Amino acid sequence: MKPPSPKLSPVTALRAAGRLLLLPLLPLLPLCCSAALAATPAELLSGYAAQAGSAPMAARGQQFFTATHGRDWQCASCHGALPTQAGKHAATGKPIAALAPAFNPLRFTDPAKVEKWFRRNCNDVVGRECSAAEKADLLAWLLTLKP
Ligand code: HEC
Repeated sequence: MKPPSPKLSPVTALRAAGRLLLLPLLPLLPLCCSAALAATPAELLSGYAAQAGSAPMAARGQQFFTATHGRDWQCASCHGALPTQAGKHAATGKPIAALAPAFNPLRFTDPAKVEKWFRRNCNDVVGRECSAAEKADLLAWLLTLKP
């Protein structure tokens, strides 16, 4: 006689549990495993984190992105609150391609461009340059956005 088949096979259950356990670690992945390639988003992230001397926090990055900092604009004013799709320049109305690397492979691959726009946009939004810790938080968050 066959035993009754269980509702969830042990393998399926194990896989599901494994995924759940690994999920919170995902934002840290680029930190541990950044390739030696120049200018991947992961490499830029580890650079900022090293400069900051602290672990990036994606949640803090999202908060920073969607808050005002004593001025008119937020990062989200031009890039959208969820930068997985095109944004729109708050002043000129020009479209801005998605900022999250998973939705735009060109993002965070050119360090000079990244630094130039961080400087300019942080000055507009915060009235100063962003710190390495803030950049690490922002990039860590952007890297959590997946299709
Ligand atoms: C007034 C509109 C505006 C605001 C506000 C703004 N940005 Fe941007 N951002 C742009 C434009 C325009 C570009 C360059 C065009 C492009 O790359 O699509 C850009 C590009 C960038 C890039 C370059 C990324 C890459 O690798 O191509 C980064 C990083 C960035 N913005 C981050 C931020 C952050 C962080 C904030 C908030 C502190 C912010 N932006 C606020 C308009 C804005």
